[in-house]
Amino acid sequence: QYSAIKDLIRGQVEIGTPVEIRGWVRSRRDSKGGFSFLSVHDGSAHAAIQAVLPGELPNYQSEALHLTAGCSVIVRGELVASQGKGQSVEVQANALEVCGWVDDPDSYPIAKKRHSFEYLRSVAHLRPRTNTFGAITRVRTVLANAVHRYFYERDFQWVNTPLITASDCEGAGEMFRVSTLDLHNLPRNAAGQVDFNEDFFGREAFLTVSGQLNAEAYCLAMSKVYTFGPTFRAENSNTSRHLAEFWMVEPEVAFADLNDDAALAEDFLRYLLTAVLNECGDDLAFFNEFIDKGLIKRLEGVVARPFARMDYSEAIRILESADRKFEFPVAWGEDLKSEHERFLCEEHVGGPLIVSNYPKDIKAFYMRLNDDERTVAAMDVLAPGIGEIIGGSQREERLEILDQRMAAQGLDGLEWYRDLRRYGTVPHAGFGLGFERLLNYITGMENIRDAIPFPRVPRQADF
Ligand code: 4AD
Ligand code: MG
Repeated sequence: QYSAIKDLIRGQVEIGTPVEIRGWVRSRRDSKGGFSFLSVHDGSAHAAIQAVLPGELPNYQSEALHLTAGCSVIVRGELVASQGKGQSVEVQANALEVCGWVDDPDSYPIAKKRHSFEYLRSVAHLRPRTNTFGAITRVRTVLANAVHRYFYERDFQWVNTPLITASDCEGAGEMFRVSTLDLHNLPRNAAGQVDFNEDFFGREAFLTVSGQLNAEAYCLAMSKVYTFGPTFRAENSNTSRHLAEFWMVEPEVAFADLNDDAALAEDFLRYLLTAVLNECGDDLAFFNEFIDKGLIKRLEGVVARPFARMDYSEAIRILESADRKFEFPVAWGEDLKSEHERFLCEEHVGGPLIVSNYPKDIKAFYMRLNDDERTVAAMDVLAPGIGEIIGGSQREERLEILDQRMAAQGLDGLEWYRDLRRYGTVPHAGFGLGFERLLNYITGMENIRDAIPFPRVPRQADF
């Protein structure tokens, strides 16, 4: 009977039961007594399981003794209590089937026990076999399910917004262009180079930077919606917080203001952290031991206490009087850079912080103008070690002011978006959570390239 390794080590299967495991060899150790221990993982659990291969196996000499890290195997036998340290059960094998050998074990790219994360990025197709990337993958799955569960339990509709679009939601001009190209008949210029200036069936089109504008349309009919999918940013920044392709969760709520929005963001984050604390015990214990000591304590603290809040103007006053030299200028009207965000939440507050009411000139056109006419009803959630993890706002629901803001930012078009203000407009608000930034925050991993299976960053699109 085939069993996932997680069910065997968690006591779901009784001792003495015949079992079959299928997976990949992590290591082999031969005993003087003429038998071998094989450590096998299958991704279902943090731990590998040990299989004891007796010398009597018909293929013991010919195959078992040649197994190396990375070989794929099926082992049948009996689940028995283990004498070894650090494991309660093992498989006493009576049959071994080798599915796939490792060509030239010495050159198996992840043969060594420990590799740098930078090196592992160069073998992104094999890194899921390591402890760390197995753990990240499982936490990512638990988080994604918790996202859907949170909204489903609260009657939000999941709206799948388009990836190909003509609208630059954030107005930052950082979009990838989509072209229709006949690969068998590439358009060439006079010099014979491929002419990539083709458009999308006669219309300019780009990969979306955010599903928000489309989500707003559904929000103004369904009341509570969210998107959860990939988004794209052509920002040429080589940092540990930016990807060219990342996943974003964007809820949008009708009849909601900025306070409702901030309260939703806080409740949502607390729910997600709680889900991971409850469901990812072994993996979190691993991150806590090897990546970030104190991680679990910190996450528990975040769940237990309300988030700190302050206005942008107050944040500027704190930064101005901070006894610290910043690389980028601090002045009212300047955007907060990562160093400022981290100072505020790490040193000033010592936990997550919600900053609200930013100057209108540094924020997107759709954010609602405040009565002071200098700021907009925006809020960012800042997290220690990461900086901005969520960006959100109350939306401008008044057509006249929206038009002024669009004109001020040199935007036109978006007639369909303006329609939403012409036909039954209501106050509404929402935010975007960067899924990989959250995953880094929860696992203690430092580089966002390690929070997504196959990272897309400038000059890196292999795999
Ligand atoms: O602050 P941003 O740009 O906000 C929006 O896109 C809004 N339309 C969201 C909304 O109100 N519905 O992005 C939201 C979040 C950021 O806080 C950050 O966590 C993440 O998306 N993010 C990135 N994550 C990885 N790589 C990048 N290049 C990112 N850019 C933004
Ligand atoms: Mg932002």
